[in-house]
Amino acid sequence: MAESEDVLTIEHVAKRFGPVTALRDVNLHLRKGEVLGLLGDNGAGKSTLMKIVSGFQKPDSGRVLLRGEEVELRSVDHARSLGIDCVYQDLALIDQLPVFQNMFLRREQVHRPVPFLATRRMKQETRRALDAIGVNIPRIDVPVARLSGGQRQAIAVARTVTSDADIILLDEPLAAMGAKEGAMILDLVARLRAEARVSIIMIAHNYVHVLESCDRVNLIQDGHITFDRPTADTSVEELNEIVVEEYRRARLAAISGDGPTEA
Ligand SMILES: Nc1ncnc2c1ncn2[C@@H]1O[C@H](COP(=O)(O)OP(=O)(O)O)[C@@H](O)[C@H]1O
Ligand SMILES: [Mg+2]
Repeated sequence: MAESEDVLTIEHVAKRFGPVTALRDVNLHLRKGEVLGLLGDNGAGKSTLMKIVSGFQKPDSGRVLLRGEEVELRSVDHARSLGIDCVYQDLALIDQLPVFQNMFLRREQVHRPVPFLATRRMKQETRRALDAIGVNIPRIDVPVARLSGGQRQAIAVARTVTSDADIILLDEPLAAMGAKEGAMILDLVARLRAEARVSIIMIAHNYVHVLESCDRVNLIQDGHITFDRPTADTSVEELNEIVVEEYRRARLAAISGDGPTEA
């Protein structure tokens, strides 16, 4: 099923947590240079899927292929060494450290130890990297704790982009963000999309954002991908209708007592 232009292919991936089946049978592919939007209800398994692709969790069954070759992702570091990097919902920035040190954090840990870098050089490189991807952070010597949610998210994304990653996973980069901050992230994604150097999976909730920022959209329901369409060939109305239908089914199941119920 893997197409030659696919950088990432997921085949029949399943994952359970005790009694909970997070992923039943996921088939998904990501083409080189594209931005794929991943939609799904809370608890649908989106984050679990990203954690499997980023080497943080192992699937119970199924395969992950990188550029057509099956890989067993042993750890987050292993996945990073293969060019896959994930910006998790909690970002993994160190609040007390200034922007420029956060930008260099993982490179020291992950890649062959970067010999001690002079502060001045780290600052210069951080400034250059942020400018290059159009992220406006006026001061890079303040602790990241003092920045807005949008700026923090932008730094986490920028760090990934300036590493060697060519497959970038963004887990709800717009969560808990106002319109103006969200626009900063969407601009960044748009810029990366235009460059087409990296391939991106972006989890989002807002259909408008997905339709504007992504080349293709996948919807995950009941542990598998139920909808896969170029964004140009779908609409907010269509996506809405599918999701409303899902709610309707879940409600009926809850009323009749045989479906999953919310705790
Ligand atoms: N580490 C875990 N232990 C137990 N259950 C988990 C764990 N991670 C996720 N789950 C469960 O798996 C399901 C999918 O979760 P998740 O992938 O976070 O969904 P989403 O990101 O789409 O909201 C949920 O029911 C969640 O409670
Ligand atoms: Mg999630």
